[in-house]
Amino acid sequence: MCGIVGYIGNKFVDSVLVVGLERLEYRGYDSAGIATISSGELFVCKKKGKLKALNDCLKEAGLGGNIGIGHTRWATHGEPSEINAHPHTDCKNEIAVVHNGIIENYQTLKEDLVARGHFFKSETDTEVIPHLIEENISEGLETAVRKAVAKIKGSFSICVISESEPDKIITAKFGSPLVIGLGKNENFIASDVTAILPHTKQVIVLNDGEIGIVSEEKITVTTPWGDTINKEVETVSWKAEDIEKGNYQFFMQKEIFEQPKIIETVISKKVTAGNIITLEEMNLSNNYLAKVKRIIIQACGTSWHAGLIGKYWLEKYAHIHTEVDVSSEYRYRNPIAEGDTLMLAISQSGETADTLAGIREGKSKFIKVLSIVNVVKSTIARESDGIIPIMAGPEIGVASTKAFTAQLTALYLFALQLGKLNYTISDTEAKNKLEGLIEIPKIMNAVLKRQDEIIKLSEKYYQKKNFIFLGRGINYPNALEGALKLKEISYIHSTGYPAGEFKHGPIALICEDTPVICLAPKDELYIKMISNIEEVKARKGKIISIATQGDTRIQSLSEDVFFIPECHEDISPIVTVLPLQLLAYHIAVKLGFDVDKPRNLAKSVTVE
Ligand code: G6P
Repeated sequence: MCGIVGYIGNKFVDSVLVVGLERLEYRGYDSAGIATISSGELFVCKKKGKLKALNDCLKEAGLGGNIGIGHTRWATHGEPSEINAHPHTDCKNEIAVVHNGIIENYQTLKEDLVARGHFFKSETDTEVIPHLIEENISEGLETAVRKAVAKIKGSFSICVISESEPDKIITAKFGSPLVIGLGKNENFIASDVTAILPHTKQVIVLNDGEIGIVSEEKITVTTPWGDTINKEVETVSWKAEDIEKGNYQFFMQKEIFEQPKIIETVISKKVTAGNIITLEEMNLSNNYLAKVKRIIIQACGTSWHAGLIGKYWLEKYAHIHTEVDVSSEYRYRNPIAEGDTLMLAISQSGETADTLAGIREGKSKFIKVLSIVNVVKSTIARESDGIIPIMAGPEIGVASTKAFTAQLTALYLFALQLGKLNYTISDTEAKNKLEGLIEIPKIMNAVLKRQDEIIKLSEKYYQKKNFIFLGRGINYPNALEGALKLKEISYIHSTGYPAGEFKHGPIALICEDTPVICLAPKDELYIKMISNIEEVKARKGKIISIATQGDTRIQSLSEDVFFIPECHEDISPIVTVLPLQLLAYHIAVKLGFDVDKPRNLAKSVTVE
């Protein structure tokens, strides 16, 4: 993971870098550091911990200059410490490097470099890079970087500055994401566009194997061998205010409350008059789609949970056999994929290494890949045959919320579209289902307005040590999602389970002190769910239900109930997840944790 930034221009270089790093902190926050060149001399300032520690040290250091690079770290090689923090330098402290990714052959490279007399300060894989560059710096920085990257194996992106050529940053992408932002007499480099959005919306997105030579006036992009590549300058559609917290305490809370508006936008952009679903970026013909016999969904984390729900819709509406895998398993299980199989990859960031590897695995078997992504300029989006953009805007909180419900909406529309194409759902049925979906933002707003009820629940239960989440059918994946949200940000042990399977072992965990959150909206499995709730109650479990308004039966079984308005049962997961997101959020706030930057996690996982 890790986030990297670079800046060359006339603004205060340290503040541009720090603002950029603030935006990238979701990629890791074990340490942060920057390097600048001022009056021909390289200065490095780095600190363990979040950016605040670096900021304090920068105030004292008062770095100057008009060129610099910065880094926020999610530790892979070497514990989080000041020594292991980036930027890393060569023996003479004249070359500085920031790096995102992993260098797989660093051990051999390091042994060779040490044998040749290089002195290493850190335990990181990154430090081999400045030393490799140092060996050829007499041939010029650009050539030295080219020769260094030619020796490195792994997935990485880097920014390099050197005292020998203080008028340029050399940047290279070999796996991890990288964009160059264009300004007037200034240019920017970052792991993703959110870091440079306050300055520019004009970007060049680097592809793997591309090297950028960035000066104040000029940007040149080349192949690893030095041939110039003509790159398109693209305009980012996100707005600078999308990455502000506004009046909310945390981005996660803001993102939870943005959901109804996002779903409304997705519907208004993708469902046109007469209930026609238009998924234009999909880039797959109706002719092709009508022949699809099997769908493989692969994704990670919350996106995987969205995929598990998508399976119900795809099988029910389009009658297409659908498998769902976590990407890290899919990529290594030698999956069978034939011509009539479509891969659906789901990813908020579009950069998750395992999901990307799953796509490459699929493509090596010549199957088409359709991706449901939020970041449309991401590697996953660019490597797929087509995309369905979820239009959720930048998601900053590490725990995914708004991307999840937007992914669900996209999956729902896609399933209906396929159903219509396959004649497995009639136009009238599709129309009714779309009408149900159009009602959802209003229902979501009604639920979010009752945040106070969830705050009360959080006050009652925040000191509990274990939580269990149960659901059945289409609401079972939300039991997994509710448990994931809670453990991610509050560090409370929680587990999600299909309610019918609970008696086959995990029910042994039930005791008076264990809150059991039961997703029990009025749907076709409601009666079965009630029986499962009775089983838990008989063992003195404390039941907190998420149920449909007016359900008196469930009230008598539960310690607490949060009621959701009635909605079409197939799309209830878009609503039932809201109280779970809010509960996790308020418990974490009550416990005093940094909700947007939970320990040990990173939002965009670009390592295996
Ligand atoms: C990380 C994040 C999760 C996210 C998962 C998949 O683990 O912390 O919130 O669901 O990656 O990310 P993606 O960007 O591929 O959806």
